[in-house]
Amino acid sequence: MKKFLTSLIVFGCIYLQGQDHKMNDFIDSLMNRMTLEEKLGQLNLSSGVGNLPVITEGEGKIEFIKKGLIGASGGYNSLKASVEESRLGIPVITGRDIIHGYKTTFPIPLALSCMWDLERVEEMARISAIEASSDGVNWTYSPMVDISRDPRWGRVAEGAGEDAWLGSRIAQAYVRGYQGDDLSANNTIMACVKHFALYGASEAGRDYNTVDMSKISMFQDYLPTYKAAFDAGAGSAMSAFNVIDMVPATGNRWLMTELLREQWGFDGFVVTDFTAINEMMHHGLGDLSEVAAQALKAGIDMDMVGQAFIGTLSQSMEEGMVTEDEIDTACRRVLEAKYKLGLFHKPFQYYDQKRADKVLLCKAHKEKARELAAHSCVLLKNEDQLLPLSRKANIAVVGPLADAKIDMLGTWAATRDTTDIITILQGIRNEISKKAQVSYAQGSYFTEDHYLLNVNRNHKKKGSPEMTITAEQSENLLKEAIEVSRDADVIVAVLGEPRSWSGEAASRSDISIPDCQQKLLNAMLETGKPVVLVLSNGRPLTLSWENEHVPAILETWHAGIEAGNGIADVLFGNYNPAGKLTMTFPRNVGQIPIYYNHRNTGRPIDPNHKFTTKYLDVPNTPLYPFGYGLSYTTFEYGEITLSNKELNGNTILTASIDIKNTGSRNGEEVVQLYLQDPVATVSRAVKELKGFQKIHLNAGESKTVTFQITQDDLKFFNSDLFYDWESGAFNVFIGTNSQDAKQSSFTWTK
Ligand code: BGC
Repeated sequence: MKKFLTSLIVFGCIYLQGQDHKMNDFIDSLMNRMTLEEKLGQLNLSSGVGNLPVITEGEGKIEFIKKGLIGASGGYNSLKASVEESRLGIPVITGRDIIHGYKTTFPIPLALSCMWDLERVEEMARISAIEASSDGVNWTYSPMVDISRDPRWGRVAEGAGEDAWLGSRIAQAYVRGYQGDDLSANNTIMACVKHFALYGASEAGRDYNTVDMSKISMFQDYLPTYKAAFDAGAGSAMSAFNVIDMVPATGNRWLMTELLREQWGFDGFVVTDFTAINEMMHHGLGDLSEVAAQALKAGIDMDMVGQAFIGTLSQSMEEGMVTEDEIDTACRRVLEAKYKLGLFHKPFQYYDQKRADKVLLCKAHKEKARELAAHSCVLLKNEDQLLPLSRKANIAVVGPLADAKIDMLGTWAATRDTTDIITILQGIRNEISKKAQVSYAQGSYFTEDHYLLNVNRNHKKKGSPEMTITAEQSENLLKEAIEVSRDADVIVAVLGEPRSWSGEAASRSDISIPDCQQKLLNAMLETGKPVVLVLSNGRPLTLSWENEHVPAILETWHAGIEAGNGIADVLFGNYNPAGKLTMTFPRNVGQIPIYYNHRNTGRPIDPNHKFTTKYLDVPNTPLYPFGYGLSYTTFEYGEITLSNKELNGNTILTASIDIKNTGSRNGEEVVQLYLQDPVATVSRAVKELKGFQKIHLNAGESKTVTFQITQDDLKFFNSDLFYDWESGAFNVFIGTNSQDAKQSSFTWTK
């Protein structure tokens, strides 16, 4: 058997080498025929014709494609022009932001991460690839794997939360889903890991802001997700806008070459983020030729939209600032990506009307979207088992997000379909019994804050009128809500954030529910009727007031095209919620950054001692910790049993625990394993996630859940950035969230 496997591996390697040879020969021969301008064209991604340095308005994009001056672009006409009318017929590669679905929009990535379900994430990415690839797209600017500990940053909606261990596994699930096991197949697309690197650590949560962190934090807490995605075979990467060690990522040779290629062995291509080379001028790194040369030398292969490469590099080559070899290296990497996608051999395989008709928004995809909307929900509070709701109850549905179609899609849904979005109101209507009544009133605006209402007023339409909301307008809305709640048995208030408040360039300094929405909520509570708060939003919010006053709170995020149906499945108990938070919910913004795997201080909090680490006005703990989420049933954890308490050398430790469903409903539980290394040569986190299992337990059923712990789980980066583990004592925690867990301990000696 062993022999057979060895020969299989050897055969596999020879086969792959053969494929590589074929690709290299093909690209060698192509590049021998390319002019310098055509090579630079391959490094040029154009999304249109702008007033940037080279491609000027007036002359159409297609003309440039015909001249071989654009290597990446969207649309059938672009592809056709590149293949049929450019001198060498090199097809353009077509990238889009397919972040959580193509036409069938799924919940936002942050929501998906709360499923703690790698298979379902992979399925989502698979469906995205199947749909996109039928409609001309072969490259997606996803997954976004930026770890973030700051919910003010709007782009947390696009990521998988605050934890590098979980984030790494989720990153790999995306890559597997998009790329499948054959990138050249007509229904797989190339992943682009972004934003390399550290973009999620923008200071103060303000988008595009400076990043400054120690190397040890980078390696321990922020870089693992990118590496995991590359290890899974992601074909491309996108540079981040921010600086790293004060050098913009886009021009950072340490990052793009030494780390990414030399240490990690990445052999795909790197595209910049949107005009990131040009933005290096604002970072203060020089003029356009200087920053373009720096980016190329750092290891960037493709310039997104900025036309800095195509506009300056031939001159820079003449002046000796860059070499033709450097241009060739970048060009080769882009051509390799095209080759791997099968573009040279079957350039039109990604346009397939028949396939598109069959797969876009098909029933199976929508059913999956509904399922994922339900699975992404996190039950934050459920006093007196107010949820699930009875189908026979009369329900008043209020709030600006109750019937807000487009907001259900959340950020990055440019390829969306808007006709079939199911709102939460619609979902509830679809579920209740014929005799029961659902009444609806908007009840409030998203916000009445003048600044917030007008902040992006001139973004698209210059001079559009200022928005103001009068007291009378808002009172009228509120009155309607009070009116419709009169005959209701229960009130469902759907509050939170519209889609434009999260995603790119959507940072908030105050992440609470705006006053006018809270006023509506308060008015509903004052009716004395039971109130369920359904949250629809793109980031963790500060919910201290709501947590104190509202009996039931369900976090549903921006849940996608089937939001309403999926959320109604949870509200009425068709699905028992099992989602768990992947980002900490702070009590107030002053606690940010707040995350579960922090380090201890020399003065750990002691309520009886003034000179210990704490705030005067709020506890240190979050409102809802990482890993938190309730169910309609309850789970009881037994004690941890370890296979051995004193381990030596290379062995495996087994940790098991009995879990019982002690409620009256069947349900799922995400059982989480954390480790702590209390004594080491560097200060370690108070705990780190190292495993989880999502189990299903029928009412009354018990299961033993077993985890295997290896030496790899004990490893960390020390002050020399050496990744290893140190002998000593360790604590192990198994529980329902990062705060509420059983504990045991062991020693492990090398
Ligand atoms: C974003 C990227 C995105 C790109 C292309 C940029 O502004 O930062 O995440 O992929 O635009 O749309």
